[in-house]
Amino acid sequence: MSALEPTEVDRPHSPVSEGAGHESDIERAYRRPVFDRRTAVRPTLSLVIPTYNEVENLPILIGRLADILSMIDYELIVVDDDSPDRSWELAEAMSVENKRIRSIRRIGERGLSSAVMAGVASADGDVVAVIDADLQHDPSILPEMITPILAGRADVVVASREVDGGSYGDFAASRRTLSVAGASLARALTGTPVSDPMSGFFALSREHMERVAPKVNPRGFKILLEFLARGEQPRVAEIGYEFGQRQHGETKLTTSVAFSYLVSLIGLVTGRMLSATMTAYLLVGLFGVLVQFAVLGAAASLGLAQAALIGFEASVLSNYVMNNRFTFTHERRRGRRFLAGLLPFHIVAAHGMVVQIGLVALATGEGPGVGSGPIGYRLLGIALATAGNFALNRNLTWRPRTGIVTL
Ligand code: GDD
Ligand code: MN
Repeated sequence: MSALEPTEVDRPHSPVSEGAGHESDIERAYRRPVFDRRTAVRPTLSLVIPTYNEVENLPILIGRLADILSMIDYELIVVDDDSPDRSWELAEAMSVENKRIRSIRRIGERGLSSAVMAGVASADGDVVAVIDADLQHDPSILPEMITPILAGRADVVVASREVDGGSYGDFAASRRTLSVAGASLARALTGTPVSDPMSGFFALSREHMERVAPKVNPRGFKILLEFLARGEQPRVAEIGYEFGQRQHGETKLTTSVAFSYLVSLIGLVTGRMLSATMTAYLLVGLFGVLVQFAVLGAAASLGLAQAALIGFEASVLSNYVMNNRFTFTHERRRGRRFLAGLLPFHIVAAHGMVVQIGLVALATGEGPGVGSGPIGYRLLGIALATAGNFALNRNLTWRPRTGIVTL
């Protein structure tokens, strides 16, 4: 018997199975054959497949895996975030037919990294790997990927588009640029030597996975980077593959996913000194400063006071739009509420200006003036105004629906 052939585990003491006339759904769920962790040998490979709206791709991938992995003892763990196209239902149905498949349906949670971590946490295999469901990752290299780990030569194997035998295929130029830029930034900030740290296709030894998993920050799209850069210095091997075309459905990588990648990269470097929301707020603010100077320069011919005012307004608008989209995603304002939010946001921005100018005026005893005063006081003014504005925006402009005031 193969190690993964699940044993039918009887649960005679389970309360729901007592004295039942005919079987309820819950009873059936309890009776479902499970991998018996007390007696069985580990499967060689646990393959985690995150899905969101992949109802057409999933059965094709699983069919191909059955051929490719026929010589390997494996389990498939499909993690779906309650997809509107009911991918989870399909995964559940397949898991009843095929004992190698397990299905996790998360309700009330979204996100590729956290879905992958849910699958990884429940994996039983000696090797734990992750693959996209949309066939862009070529499953035929999986046996080659797990070999160095089983042989004890590597802790992490990355399927790479950047090494020999690897390519981006027909990946749109814009996406490719984004991926390459993200990878360079990751290499520069974390020092990881991996050629394709943005890859969502990789394998981990069970030991490495168990060492690093508790340290992982499960946000965004960059879960591999967490396993590379959380301070455990893994031995890494890379294997080239050609990035395929998505056959059905569409990508879930949006600009806000890209932005949260940046935020989590900063978290990786700073060791999470700042909350993710605060980091996003600061990034947006920094961008706002650039906008302010660019517009001020462009409008200089109108006279200094006018140009300063227009530059200030441009940065306020840019900050509002970006914070609404990226920083306060859960409290995002739309439609008429979006327009209505401009008022409290402007009041808060004006407050910040008053704090900055007022602090310098108080400290120097001179009259108020924009952009004047000793640099130390000005920086202190900026820091105080930013912290104050953040707290005010959190509680006024994007008040959490619970009505609880947060700082
Ligand atoms: N459970 C769950 N929840 N799965 C998700 C979610 C989510 O919120 N978002 C995406 N997925 C699944 C998709 O269904 C797919 O199987 C896989 O994660 C990748 O999502 P895509 O939307 O196809 O991503 P992509 O092709 O744009 O991104 C590719 O490139 C990135 C870097 O260039 C992937 O290979 C990523 O893994 C990679 O990081
Ligand atoms: Mn994809």
